[in-house]
Amino acid sequence: SYSAKIGPSILSSDLSQLGNECKRMMECGADYLHLDVMDGHFVPNITFGHPMVECLRNTLGPDPFFDMHMMVSRPEQWVKPMAAAGANQYTFHLEATSNPGNLIKEIRESGMKAGLAIKPGTTVEELAPWAGQIDMALVMTVEPGFGGQKFMEDMMPKVSWLRSQFPSLDIEVDGGVGPSSIHKCAEAGANMIVSGSAVVSSDDPRSVIALLKNVVIE
Ligand code: DX5
Ligand code: ZN
Repeated sequence: SYSAKIGPSILSSDLSQLGNECKRMMECGADYLHLDVMDGHFVPNITFGHPMVECLRNTLGPDPFFDMHMMVSRPEQWVKPMAAAGANQYTFHLEATSNPGNLIKEIRESGMKAGLAIKPGTTVEELAPWAGQIDMALVMTVEPGFGGQKFMEDMMPKVSWLRSQFPSLDIEVDGGVGPSSIHKCAEAGANMIVSGSAVVSSDDPRSVIALLKNVVIE
């Protein structure tokens, strides 16, 4: 039976309380934490970098899986610092590098899993050549940069195609995913679900996480 992992994006939370917010999400049943790194250049917004990740690792302990979503122009630059800070997975954007193969190799050599992300305007055929070498494909369902945007349903064919071609690949969706869009994601074959505002801004994050995790496909 279908079962998805849920990774809250803490971008929409009170960033002055990041450690507590991460703890709260794990206590509410999150399977992993999706941490959005933005450099103000690849996307028009700035968040945080590896010094924050190191502090989160120290305060949360060894268990939570940190899925780093690197929305940065020079992803090569932060592989070693992120590994040293305690990141578990390093997901970079295909649009941000000219040598994805080498970057995937460096990420894995540093002990992290490798994820490859595509923006809405990038075709899945461009990602396909690397799909056999990565741990996870991230299909963006909004333009990266901000939480709280509307889910782009027309990205679902990318997910379905990847699922048909790569049955055991982890496929993540990110952007506007919540109770009203989870069915589309699950039907298409996504098994790692990022949800920001729908979970973090809810009065009852535990119920929203449970609902997302237990989605039934007809
Ligand atoms: C957008 C980020 C997402 C975002 C998700 O650039 O990559 O992770 O925070 O938040 P929601 O679910 O609110 O779209
Ligand atoms: Zn993200």
